[in-house]
Amino acid sequence: MTRSEDDLERARSLLRSADTVVILTGAGVSAESGVPTFRGDDGLWKQFRPEQLANPDAFRRDPRLVWEWYAWRREKVAACDPNPAHHALARFTLGRDRTRIVTQNVDDLHLRAARALVTEEGETSPAAESHDPAPPLQLHGSLFHVRCTRCNQRHEYRDPVDAESQDALPRCQRCDSLLRPDVVWFGESLDPRILETAGRWCRAADVALVVGTSSVVEPAASLPRHTTRSGGALIEVNPEETPLTTLADVSLHARAGEVVPGLLGGLVE
Ligand code: OAD
Repeated sequence: MTRSEDDLERARSLLRSADTVVILTGAGVSAESGVPTFRGDDGLWKQFRPEQLANPDAFRRDPRLVWEWYAWRREKVAACDPNPAHHALARFTLGRDRTRIVTQNVDDLHLRAARALVTEEGETSPAAESHDPAPPLQLHGSLFHVRCTRCNQRHEYRDPVDAESQDALPRCQRCDSLLRPDVVWFGESLDPRILETAGRWCRAADVALVVGTSSVVEPAASLPRHTTRSGGALIEVNPEETPLTTLADVSLHARAGEVVPGLLGGLVE
């Protein structure tokens, strides 16, 4: 067995004996779908870095510019499809109450993979339709949800956004104030209930499987440490080293779409 086959087998064995698994994902899991990561070379839009646009001051200064960036990202994600890693994770999670996905991603690719699976399974086994896929916990919100800047009302919003002029930007149906993307920006706090749930799942997990995150943005970066501190194991999938790598029981240095299907494939009944 080569070193990487050996690592893969050790990771499989940890997952096979786990009762509770938490899967923590970042931008890398969607990279092979064509969604740019934040810190990769493709993370730039025009001359801006994400940190310059994903913050409340930027929105106050120039909401049109920030919406233009989000409109571009929404269109880009809508044109992408879930990749083999999303599909394998959806299959692994389906019907397992004690396996949950927590993602930093604001795309909807985990959810679309889960829905595609339920549709596909439902065609062959009507019983599968009763498995409503548990939505991933989206720590940083969603590109396809908006929030009113005044009355805070939140809802799903999939219509195309016209960011040609400030007057064309989407407005609240209740109070007519400007809507903003319902995502967590730099300098903002995560929803405490979502963070508490993620922390609880991580503490309870026998294994945390961390896929495609640079593990530098807090508090998401610390979540896997809840698992290791509670005696659980850590498996990391990332082509690069991260601050988490030295903590991991197994590090699979490969792209998610290449390694995750093989890792989880044999574990699905
Ligand atoms: P990053 O862009 O910081 O990191 C992406 C990680 O994915 C890197 O460690 C890459 O090595 C890895 N990667 C790239 N391609 C991969 C592949 N095919 N398979 C597996 N891994 C791959 O993205 P995040 O860690 O998700 O926050 O960033 C965290 C947060 O920072 C984001 O949610 C966002 C950002 O600022 C907010 O917007 C609040």
